[in-house]
This record gives sequence, structure tokens and C-alpha cells, in this order.
Amino acid sequence: MTQIFKKTDKQVDQARLLASASKHILSYGGSRSAKTFGICRAMVIRAAKTRSRHIALRLKFNHAKTSLFLDTFPKLFSLCFPGLEVRENRSDWYYSLPNGSEIWIGGLDEKERVEKILGKEYSTIFFNECSQIPYSSVTMALTRLAERSGLKTKAYYDCNPPTKRHWTYPLFIRGLDPQTWEPRDDADNYASIRMNPTDNLDNIDPDYIQMLEQLPEKDRLRFLQGEFTDESEGSIYHAFRREDHVISITRSPRHPIVVGMDFNVNPMTAVICQLYDDSLYVIDEIYLENSNTHEMTQVLKQKYGPGWTVIPDATGKALKTSAAGISDHEILKQGGYQIPFVRNPFRADRYNCVNGLLEKKRIIVDPKCPKLIRDLEQVSYKEGTNLPETKEKHLTHISDALGYVAHWAYPLYDYSSGDDVMGVKR
Ligand SMILES: Nc1ncnc2c1ncn2[C@@H]1O[C@H](COP(=O)(O)OP(=O)(O)OP(=O)(O)O)[C@@H](O)[C@H]1O
Ligand SMILES: [Mg+2]
Repeated sequence: MTQIFKKTDKQVDQARLLASASKHILSYGGSRSAKTFGICRAMVIRAAKTRSRHIALRLKFNHAKTSLFLDTFPKLFSLCFPGLEVRENRSDWYYSLPNGSEIWIGGLDEKERVEKILGKEYSTIFFNECSQIPYSSVTMALTRLAERSGLKTKAYYDCNPPTKRHWTYPLFIRGLDPQTWEPRDDADNYASIRMNPTDNLDNIDPDYIQMLEQLPEKDRLRFLQGEFTDESEGSIYHAFRREDHVISITRSPRHPIVVGMDFNVNPMTAVICQLYDDSLYVIDEIYLENSNTHEMTQVLKQKYGPGWTVIPDATGKALKTSAAGISDHEILKQGGYQIPFVRNPFRADRYNCVNGLLEKKRIIVDPKCPKLIRDLEQVSYKEGTNLPETKEKHLTHISDALGYVAHWAYPLYDYSSGDDVMGVKR
């Protein structure tokens, strides 16, 4: 018997929202609630209207291929568009429709394909499972949402809701800028819909709901009720444990020193690191109160000599914390240090990077670094935001210094090619 396609009631609401005037539309909620299916269907309808190009992106290409190209789309074509002659291209991974429209499938983890994909322009970009995608990659991909096909360009997003600190929450639920948590002027351009598995009972196994009901509370809220969750505690470096990460380290004579630096004047801070065995060893710290970059350069020279690489806060390229009139980066270079081209990662990516390395015990801190250890234990979020609490003026700076060097050495998501995700050069 041929199955007849029927939208769930929630999918009717979703379809209306996807076709509304908003440009950015998030479908969030529990698992198996028909979010992805509804979005892919809207993409096909848009593609069928006029010759145009569309793309569904995931963090990992392999996941995009198995879940979207080999599962959701084939099922969707046969159920909702049985008469449509769709051709598959399995070398570049796109479908073409009889009117010449293309629907591409991509991952953000493959440098060559990312370059190819981002060489084109699209009328729709769909960020599937966007809780896994860094916001920096989203904004980069959105520069390609520029096809002049006659369709209004649209960005669709879906995810199981992560914590309230994730960029999706301020952006879509609170109408705030995910970097600053300030209100956005264009908040009207963002819309969202919650969809839960109980809205998709016609198409999933009833046992599945029972299974979700047995989950621990936090997971049940997320996967059954589709709620953004609160982080249990406010600590930013939640993966840090003194007993696991503080170990005496002898400086390796075979490896160079790499210094992470933050240019705050009080305190001016640096972490002295060595990188080997896929890990980051913090062998020492420099913490100077009421200081400046000249003094920091002198202290660094006295203790460790010149010639090493420094990974500073990238804003120091233009910043002058010293009276001399030259930039902080210039002072360091004149002092005999090398500064590679650096770009500050988004704050949340930097925190995630440090926590990820801590979880795998790839950051080890010598007990000679009490200020860094204090920061890793005490730096917390300002309540209800993803911004650090800055009431205590001495905190946050030295852990920022660690974050700069950690993210430079082992950037999030692509540890091998030396490039950030989406081909952004470090
Ligand atoms: N209208 C429909 N008719 C028939 N099957 C449907 C319909 N909508 C969704 N489905 C099916 O329901 C299942 C769940 O849908 P989908 O994958 O879109 O859920 P999801 O909300 O994206 O889930 P997850 O959070 O796990 O990614 C899939 O097998 C999908 O093919
Ligand atoms: Mg899905």
C-alpha cells in the first residue's frame, strides 16, 4: 500500500513559519519530532518554484551524508514528491531537480569541500543540528546566502535545545546578540518554533516516548520536552579539576616555549607553555600588577630569554597599554618575540576549546601557577548570560591568556590541518 503523506499539526505551523517574512528560522525541540523532515520539505518546495541553489549543512560531512542524503531526502522525495524526477550527484553530493535547481549536502569539517561549497551562492542555507556548529561557522556560511534567484533568501536551523548559554538561545529565544547579549536591532528577522516527539506520534514508535520518559531529568527536558536547560553551576572552566590537571612539570629542553598573553594593565598576565604529545603544558605564569607591555617583555626576557612565540590577545595589534605610542604587539616584536597572525576566536569557542582539552587531560598546569589555577577554579558566568562575571577585577585575565594559546595550538573542531573550521586561517 502506498503511504499517503500527511503533515503533523505541528508541521503545518512549522511550514507556515518557514514561509513567513522572517529570514532566520529555528525549529528546536525533542528528538524525532519531525523538525528536519519539515525543513527539508520546505527546501524542496522552494527549489521547485524557480531555478535556485540550496544547501543543508552539518558539522560533519559524514553525518550529513548518512542522515540527510541517504535517509531524510530519499524518504521525503518518495513520500511527498513521488512524481518529481530528482537526480543524485554522488561525487559532489547534491540533488538536481528538473528545473535545474540544486540541493547540496555539506559538512563543515572538510576543507576542500568547504571551499568548493562556499564558492557558490545559495537561496536557502539549512544548519542541521546547529547546536554542534560554532557561531563563527554560521556567520561565515551566511555570507554565501546571496543567490539572486527571485526567492527571498532564508536560513533555516534545527537542533535539540542545548544550554541557555549556546548561541541559539540569545539569538532566537531572547532576541539578543549572542556575542554581547545586547538587544539586536534586527530581532524581528529571527523566529522559532518548538516541536516535540509527542507532536509526531503518527510517525514514531510509541515505545520511543516511553524510553524518553526514563531519561535523567536534564536529558528528559531536552529530548522529550525540548527545553533549553540551565547549566548546573556557573563555572566557566567546568572541566578543570585541581587533582587531575595540576601536576609538577619539568621544562622540556627539546621543545620551544609558547607564551599566551593578555594585555590588561592590572594585572598584565602571561602563561609560559610548551606544546608536545598533543598537549599543552603550562610550566610557569607571569602576573604583574599595574604594569605594561614593556615591563612584561623585560620580565619575560629575564626569565626565559628572547626568541619565543607569543600568542597574545589579537586586539593588541592596535592596542596601546603603554605610554610609548606603539602597539603592544610592536613592543613584543621589538623585544625579540614572534607573533604569528592571530585572530581572536569567539569567546565561547575559546572556553569550549579549553574545556575540551581539560576533559581529555590535554592541559596540565604546574603548581607554580597559582593565579592561573585560581582563575580556572573561580571564573564564572554572569547569571543568565554567557559572559564572564567581571566584578572581581583580578580574575579572567590569566585564563584568557591560556585560552588564546590553547585555541591557537589546538583550535576547535579541526586539530589536523592548521585551519579553523570553514577554512578560516588562524
Ligand atoms: N509528515 C510525516 N510523515 C511521515 N513521516 C514523517 C513525517 N514527518 C516526519 N516523519 C518521520 O518522523 C521521523 C522523525 O522526523 P525527523 O527526523 O524530521 O525528526 P527530528 O525532529 O529532526 O529528530 P532529531 O531531533 O532526532 O533530529 C523520521 O523518520 C521522519 O521520516
Ligand atoms: Mg533532525
